[in-house]
Amino acid sequence: MRYPLVHKNVKGFMHGGDYNPDQWLHMPEIIEEDYRLMKLANTNTFSLNIFGWSAIERTEGEFHFGWLDEIMDRLAEEGSHVILATPSGARPAWMSQKYPEVLRVEKNRVRNLHGLRHNHCFTSPVYREKVRIMNEKLAERYAHHPALIMWHISNEYGGECHCDLCQDAFRTWLKKKYDNDLEQLNQAWWTGFWSHRFNDWSQIESPAPHGESMVHGQNLDWRRFVSDQTIDFFKEEIVPLRKADASIPVTTNFMGNYPHMRPFLGIEYNKFASVMDVVTWDAYPPWHIEGQTTTKLASDVGFVHDLYRSLKDGQPFLIMENTPSLVNWHDINKRKEDGVHALSAVQSVAHGADSILYFQWRQGRGASEKFHGAVVDHSGSEHTRVFQEVSKLGAELDKIQPIAGTSIKPEVAVIFDWENQWAIDDAQALNNVNKKYSEQCQAHYHSFWKQGIPTDIITMDKDFSTYKVLVGPMLYMIRPGVAERIEAFVKAGGTFIATYWSGIVDENDLCFLGGFPGPLKNLLGVWAEEIDSLYPNHDIVLKTDSQTYQVTDYCERIHAVDADVLARFESGGYDQRPAVTVNQVGNGKAYYIASSNEQRFYDDFYQELAKECTLNRVLNTEIPEGVSVQKRTDGQTDYVFVMNFTDQAQTLQLPQEENYTNMLTDESVHNTLKMDPYQYMILKK
Ligand code: GLA
Ligand code: ZN
Repeated sequence: MRYPLVHKNVKGFMHGGDYNPDQWLHMPEIIEEDYRLMKLANTNTFSLNIFGWSAIERTEGEFHFGWLDEIMDRLAEEGSHVILATPSGARPAWMSQKYPEVLRVEKNRVRNLHGLRHNHCFTSPVYREKVRIMNEKLAERYAHHPALIMWHISNEYGGECHCDLCQDAFRTWLKKKYDNDLEQLNQAWWTGFWSHRFNDWSQIESPAPHGESMVHGQNLDWRRFVSDQTIDFFKEEIVPLRKADASIPVTTNFMGNYPHMRPFLGIEYNKFASVMDVVTWDAYPPWHIEGQTTTKLASDVGFVHDLYRSLKDGQPFLIMENTPSLVNWHDINKRKEDGVHALSAVQSVAHGADSILYFQWRQGRGASEKFHGAVVDHSGSEHTRVFQEVSKLGAELDKIQPIAGTSIKPEVAVIFDWENQWAIDDAQALNNVNKKYSEQCQAHYHSFWKQGIPTDIITMDKDFSTYKVLVGPMLYMIRPGVAERIEAFVKAGGTFIATYWSGIVDENDLCFLGGFPGPLKNLLGVWAEEIDSLYPNHDIVLKTDSQTYQVTDYCERIHAVDADVLARFESGGYDQRPAVTVNQVGNGKAYYIASSNEQRFYDDFYQELAKECTLNRVLNTEIPEGVSVQKRTDGQTDYVFVMNFTDQAQTLQLPQEENYTNMLTDESVHNTLKMDPYQYMILKK
C-alpha cells in the first residue's frame, strides 16, 4: 500500500530544513542569496519560525508579521514548501520578566532565570494563554498560505517543572487516577515503606533529591504525569490551528538520545504520536566514534527509525533535523566522512522516512550554535564539500520520488516500551550503573538487521496479531491485559521470545507474587527463581548442542516447569542449569532466554528461528558484515536499499532469479553487487 504524502502539494521527498532568517533580518542581502543557494542545493522545504517569537512580538501585544509574510511569500514564489512552527520552544525576555510563572522550577524548587530555551512551565495559565494568542494569529494569517504544508508545534518538547501550579496539577491527575481515594494511592505506592503513608492529598509532592525519591510508584506516576501534561500542552497548542484548517497536518519533532542511540525517554512517544498526524524526529547519530564499528551504530540507528515508523503502524515518518556534517554538542565533534551524510540520509529513507531536513540551512554568526554544521557555512559558498554532498543528495531524492509514501509490513516485532524503561531504570537492583534495557532490545534487533529481516519496534500496547515473531526482551513490567494478549498470540501460532527479568512488576511497579515471570509463568513454562548480576570476569558459558557462548551481565537460576530445555549453563555456579527453554502452547511456541549473552548467541538463535518460522528476508543471500538491506514497497514495486556501512569495499551476490534496476543510474543489476566503502544502492524490482 501507499500512504498519502503529508500534503497534496508535496510530490516526493522533502529536502531542506530549519531556516532562521529571523536572525538575519538586518542583513537582507544574505536572505536574498539564500534563495539562489536553495535552488543549487536541490532543496524544496523549510521550517520557519521555530525560535521566531521575539522577532514577531517584540513588545507585549504588538505583533510584527511583516518579515514572516515576506519570507513565506517568497518561498512560495520559489516553489518551496513551508513547515511553519509555533514558537513556544523559546519566548521573549519581556514575558519572563513580567510573568515569572512561565519560568520553569527545577527539582530543587528553585525557579530558573530567563534564558536558554525549552524551559517553560507546561501548566502555567499565562504561558498557555500567550501561546494561544500567538497560535491564533499564526493560524489566521497563514493557514491558507500556498507555501504551508504542515505545522511544527514548538520544538523538542521535554523536561519537567516543579512549580506550585504543576504540584497542584499533579495532585489533580492523581485524584483522577485513584478515584479520589487516597487509600488506593497508598496501596499502589506501597507507602507503608519507611512510614510514607499519606493522610491528605496536599502532602503529596513531585519527587525531589532533597525530598521523596524512593517511592517507585510515585516516581512512575510523576513521569506519567509529566508526559501527559506535555501532551496536554501540545493538544492546547493545536486547537487554533485545527480550527483554521483541519487539513493541515501537525507534528512535533521527537528526539534520540546519544551516544547510545536510544529513543528519547522523557515523554511516552507512543501516546504522543496518537495525537499528531505525522511522526518526525531529529537524528544525530555519532558516526565514527573511535574504537566502535559503524555497523553496530547503524543497526542501533535503524532501531530508532523502525520504532518511530512503528508509532503510527508503518506510516512513513520524517527526519525533521539531521546535520549535513557535524554537530557542536558531541564530546568530540567529528565530521561525517565523505559520503557518510548521504549514506545516513538514505538509511533513514530505507526505514521509512519521507524527508531529509537539516538543522540548519545557514550557520548563524553568533551564539552557541555558530559552529554547528549547516548546509551553508560562514563562507557563504556553494563550493564546499558539504554543500555539494547536500546538493547531490537532493538530486538523488528527486530520482527516487516514487518511493515516498511506501512502507513495509514486517513479520517481526521487538517490544520496546517507555514505561517499562522508566520502571527498569528506577529499580534499585541488578547493575545500578546501567541496566542495559535498550542495549538488550537492540542486541535482539541487531540479529534481524544483519539478516535483512524488516522489524517493527512496538510498545506492549500495540496489536501483536499481525506478526509471526514477537520478541519481548526484559519485559519487567506487565500492564493489565498484556500477558493475556501475548498468550493469545502464541496460541494462534505466533512465536514469542522472552528473556531474564521479565514479568516482575505490575503497572504500579508492585512485584508479582507467586514466582517470576509473574503472569507469563504459565505461557513460558518456567519459574525464574533468582537473578544474578555479573562482574565482567565472571565466567559462565551457555552451551547448545553444537555451540558455546559467553554469558554477560545477567544470569538467572530458572526451573523448566513445563518447558523443554534447549541449552544449559556451564561453570560459574550454574552448572547444568537451564539457559534456554521452549514451551509449546496451542499452535505456537514461547521461548525463554535466562541470561544476557554475547551477540553471536542472538545471531545464531535468530538465524535458526528465521528458518523455522520461514521469515522473509529482503534478499535471499549472504549479507556481508556491515551491510544493511532494507525494503519499502507499495505492494507492487519493491524498493530495496543496500547500504555498506563499512569503510571497506564489499561484494554481495544477488539472488540469481532476480533482476533489479539501480534507480540512481537506471542500469539493470543482477548477479554481483560491488559496493565501495560507504556506498548505497537503491534497487527497484
Ligand atoms: C536540536 C534542536 C535544534 C538545534 C539542534 C542542534 O535538535 O531542535 O534547534 O539546536 O538540536 O543539533
Ligand atoms: Zn510549572
